[in-house]
This record gives sequence, C-alpha cells and structure tokens, in this order.
Amino acid sequence: MSELLKVELGKRSYPIHFGDGVADKLRRDIASLRAAGRMVAAITDQNIKKRQSDFLSSLGTDLPLLALPAGEKTKSFTHLEEICEFLALKGLDRSGCLFAIGGGVVGDLAGFAAASYLRGIDFHQIPTTLLAMVDSSVGGKTGVNLSAGKNLAGAFHQPKAVYIDTSLLETLPPREFAAGMAEVIKTALLADRSLFEHLQSEDKLDPGSPQLPGIIRRCCEIKAGIVAEDEEERAAQGGRALLNLGHTFAHAIETVTGYGSYLHGEAVAVGLVLAARLSQKLGQINESEVAAIRKALVACDLPVRLTSPLSVSALCQAMKRDKKVRGGDVRFVLLSSIGKAETANRIPEESWRELWVEAGAENS
Ligand code: GLY
Repeated sequence: MSELLKVELGKRSYPIHFGDGVADKLRRDIASLRAAGRMVAAITDQNIKKRQSDFLSSLGTDLPLLALPAGEKTKSFTHLEEICEFLALKGLDRSGCLFAIGGGVVGDLAGFAAASYLRGIDFHQIPTTLLAMVDSSVGGKTGVNLSAGKNLAGAFHQPKAVYIDTSLLETLPPREFAAGMAEVIKTALLADRSLFEHLQSEDKLDPGSPQLPGIIRRCCEIKAGIVAEDEEERAAQGGRALLNLGHTFAHAIETVTGYGSYLHGEAVAVGLVLAARLSQKLGQINESEVAAIRKALVACDLPVRLTSPLSVSALCQAMKRDKKVRGGDVRFVLLSSIGKAETANRIPEESWRELWVEAGAENS
C-alpha cells in the first residue's frame, strides 16, 4: 500500500504518494480517469523513454505519450507550444488530464502547458529524478526559461497528485543523482539542522540507500509545510522565498552559461556556497559552518565553485534580472544558522559582487 502526505491548500490540496505500491496507485488512478470518460496524455523526455520503457508501457501502451529532448534547453516556449499542439491533436478537452513523467524540466514545462492549454487542465506529477522528488514536483511552480533569465515566464498551477516511486531512481545517472542532493542539502540548511547532521554522518547516499526514501519524504514534508503557508511566494519576509536559498546565484550561472553546461542542482550547489559565504560576511554564520556546507556538497560530488571562469559583470547583470528583484533590489536568502534561513533586502552590491571572484569568476 502506498502512504501519503497531503499538501494543504484548501480546494487545491493534493496528496503526495510514497512507498511500495505507488506505481499501482498511479495505474489505478489513470484507469479511473479513463473509466470516467476523461482523456489522458503523458509528457516525458527521450532519456526516460529509453531508461524506463517498462514503467511507461505499464501505464498503458495506448497512453498518448510525447517524449521531448532531455535537458534544460527544452524548457522553452517552443516546446510549450509543441505540448499544447500535441494535446490538441490528441483531442484532450477541458476534462483532460496530463501526466508529467520526468525531472524538473518535464514537470515545469508540462505543468505550464497544463496551466495554459484550454486555460487550464488537470495534471499529475511523476518525478523520475531526485531533484524533482524533493523539490520541483511539489508546490505548483511551472514555467519556461527565457534567454533573459531562468523561469521568467510561468504560472502557479498545482498538480492533482504527486507519485514518488523511488525505484525510478535506479536508472538515474550519478551526475543527476548528485544534482538532486544539492536540493536535499538546501532543504536541510534552510529548515532542518538534524537532517543536515544526519547527511553529514551518513556514507554517500545512492539510489539504493535504505535511508533515501525517508530523506525524500522529510524534504517533501518541509516543502509542503512552506508551500501551505505561502503558496504564491507573497510573504513580505521569509515564506516560500526561503526555498530559493542559493538560487539567486544559481539562476545567474544557468542564465550566463545558456542553460547548457550546469545541471540545475550543480548550479544550486555553487549558489549554496555563495549564499553561505554571504551569510558569513554579514556575520550570521561562522567559517566552520561554511566549511561544513562545502564539505557536505563535495561529499556528494557537487561543484563548490565555477567549473570554468564566467564574467562577474554578466553574472551580476543576470542576478539583477532575477524574478525576486523588487525595484532594482536583489533579494537574498541568508542562513542565520544551519537549519534556519531568512530573506534579506538591501544588501550592498559590493558585498556579493566580489564573492563571484572567490567562486572563480573573472572581472573582464
Ligand atoms: N523550488 C522553489 C519553490 O518551489 O518555491
């Protein structure tokens, strides 16, 4: 039997299913939708189509399935249009339901298609990467990237259910597993000191680690709690914005490198070190805490500085175009200790600009 956790959002509440039996629950839910006369379709990517062909066929060989190119560059208006045309071609009406089977790219893009096709149809998330299981499949942020910046167009559109089947991680490449660990570490840093200590004391986790399902569930619990309090990230301080720890820096790296060289989680790993260093510079945490954060990331084979030099001014420009900018002021999430974060405004540019040099960027 699958177990569940609920994301409490009033009329938009939904379950996250975990544990043994999740795949059966998913198949039963697809069958009930179809029995009720509702059309279903699924979006995935070419890698999942290859690596999880048995899982996909177990959902029904007649399930209309669109497999998009894998990778962050796919999170674009071009592929959003492709999904909407596919749904129209398959004849989905407003009672139709879309299943997003993949990592963060597939989930965000298919979710945005579900938010916009016929002005909104239902969708379900079936995350296949660690990053999507612990972060992007929960909370209803959907969207695409623009060349001007990451996730700059999108909508809040909550899924109807999330199905977390950790056996899908067995075919995940180690680099992508590591990228997911960056979001696990982020979650621990912003909300759960004992989770961070647990991660420090564990041997390196892998998809078969017996502790992994509990860690994924704990990350979902934290995220569900934060989303329930501040669904659309409107809190003046704190709230859902805390989940962006390290992300102002990370999004700049992804934007400047054209969404090609870093996986999102890898950019987040570098961003977490920069956020920790900024917190240290502002007197919030100490050097040994920054060192512990670096060590935890390195232990997961994550980068803690840029893998090749980028321009400081390009990175700073990208930060100023981030969604979180208000009236030209870049908003940051800082650590007040390990396990506790806060939002911060009006941090002088000289405090964060020079951190990029420390991370391997160059003043040109
Ligand atoms: N990934 C950050 C959020 O969902 O708010």
